[in-house]
Amino acid sequence: MRCNDRPSSPIAIDGPAASGKSTVGEALAKQLGFAFLDTGLMYRAFTLAALRIGLSAEDPDACGKFAEELSLRVIPGTRTRIELGGEDITERLRDSEVEAKVSRYSAIPRVRAAMVSSQRALAQGAQIILAGRDIGTVVLPGAPLKLFLTASEDARAKRRGEQTGAEDDAQARHDISRRDRVDSTRTVSPLKPAPDAILIDTTHLSLAEVIDLALEYARCARS
Ligand code: DC
Repeated sequence: MRCNDRPSSPIAIDGPAASGKSTVGEALAKQLGFAFLDTGLMYRAFTLAALRIGLSAEDPDACGKFAEELSLRVIPGTRTRIELGGEDITERLRDSEVEAKVSRYSAIPRVRAAMVSSQRALAQGAQIILAGRDIGTVVLPGAPLKLFLTASEDARAKRRGEQTGAEDDAQARHDISRRDRVDSTRTVSPLKPAPDAILIDTTHLSLAEVIDLALEYARCARS
């Protein structure tokens, strides 16, 4: 490993639901002066748009066509924002019906192809961090730094429960486990670490410790 002042770009962060990709990605982007693109929000935005027009995930052809024609404005920044037809829908993207359906829509190959092509265009030439499920394996396989965050299901459910202010974490645990199952068993671009990804198990680490580790890797990546 060589360390230098110029952090590697782009940086790929993948991992299962509620593994801290967005929190870590945002913090890292802020520290490095990079943009942050949370690609999960793009699949969520597609899901919200499809639900609004009553398009079912059981109709992959119609979903594929809709994804190719959909005009989403994705704005990477220290936080990612998304506009649909001029409306800022960012705050709607964690609604429960989106949460419940997003894995189904994101398993459709043509929907993925449309999203991946926008993600690559946004990453082109930018100082940027992308977070998702397939960034290191499919979207940016040449990224000089790939992190794969994991944590036990218990730890992830607890953190998600705290974020949403839920009284207990049973619902969070149920949602996380269902999404992980669909995301890691789908045929196209399943959730998995790239062969050259650095695995960070955050179960027993504080957020500050994970961010410090990630920063060290960003500044000392193999170049
Ligand atoms: O990161 P997230 O939990 O907000 O992602 C929501 C869903 O989007 C996730 O369950 C699977 C899908 N997703 C994907 O298939 N590929 C990505 N690169 C990012 C998210």
